[in-house]
Amino acid sequence: MTNFWKQLSKPIVALAPMEDVTDTVFREVIRSVSDPAALQVLFTEFTSTDGLCNKIGRRNVSSRLLVSDTERHWIERTQTKLVAQIWGSDPDKFFRSAQLISEIYQFDGIDINMGCPVKKVVKSKSCSALINDPMLAKEIILATKEATQLPVSVKTRIGFNQIITEKWIGELLDVNPAAITVHGRTQSMLSTGKALWSEIAKAVQLRNDRKSDTLILGNGDVDSYVMAMDYVDRFGVDGVMVGTGIFKNPWMFNQLQSEVSMDMRVNLLKTHIRLYNEVWDETQNFNVLKRFFKIYVNGFNGAAEWRDKLMVCKNCMEALQVVGLLEERKMEYSRISH
Ligand SMILES: Cc1cc2nc3c(=O)[nH]c(=O)nc-3n(C[C@H](O)[C@H](O)[C@H](O)COP(=O)(O)O)c2cc1C
Repeated sequence: MTNFWKQLSKPIVALAPMEDVTDTVFREVIRSVSDPAALQVLFTEFTSTDGLCNKIGRRNVSSRLLVSDTERHWIERTQTKLVAQIWGSDPDKFFRSAQLISEIYQFDGIDINMGCPVKKVVKSKSCSALINDPMLAKEIILATKEATQLPVSVKTRIGFNQIITEKWIGELLDVNPAAITVHGRTQSMLSTGKALWSEIAKAVQLRNDRKSDTLILGNGDVDSYVMAMDYVDRFGVDGVMVGTGIFKNPWMFNQLQSEVSMDMRVNLLKTHIRLYNEVWDETQNFNVLKRFFKIYVNGFNGAAEWRDKLMVCKNCMEALQVVGLLEERKMEYSRISH
């Protein structure tokens, strides 16, 4: 199996793993409007190794690893990469999960979450808690690498309570992951303050000093393609991972699309709802879809009113009816609001 990370042209641009956001449907929606040269890597939502290693648990978490036939079609057509992200605290379960992922799924790589700051996962000594236990973190990476031919990467932060970028990234470099995505905040910063890109640059410098071939991607507060390219130049990273920036502009990975019209937004919303209905049917909570409405229904007069109408819908069919009404009456609304 090849290490796809090495074959990507730089700078690398990736869409961040986001729970209840980057499912197969949203990934397909974004792929459908992106330039594959400007978005090379996408990630699944983080998936529990405890869940994957347990029969009943696996049923609960496997939706996170689902790749629909239509997303698979996009992957093949665009040659973009898809990485499964996993989390947990037991190296043996990472080993078994990596084996399972390699045997029954078709991912291009496995990423280990060492960054999620949420209390519940920290309590279970997983994710960002591993920053406080580098021995265990390294054991987990080695166990995962041993179980699979797929490239193994890590997504992490610059420290737990304190900034310890060089010390922590140095520990990770010891076991040579294919790539490390560094989010420029500590665990205790959660999502507050600004992401510290100067710290991300220190991780790059350390990697260079050690002559390691691990790629370093930076993450935090990037909300346009232009900004991503600027940060590559300024901070020396091999690539940039974008998370919430996509909510501002789903077309951000398409440089040709400088103007996003109301029609484009409404059409993409329709695609999203239809795909969501096809893939998840009644099995997934419709409320999960509601968080996306703001992405598409904004930037025109009356947008808030239409969002309210969508928010009271109870299922995809009702939502599609509201979108139909919006389309019929779009002439009244299409003036852009500032
Ligand atoms: C709703 C949401 C869900 C997230 N879920 C994950 C996840 O499953 N795995 C992960 O590594 N990070 C997760 N993150 C963190 C993002 O991947 C990213 O690191 C963070 O949003 C900062 O990047 P940004 O400033 O570009 O948004 C999540 C973030 C958000 C907002």
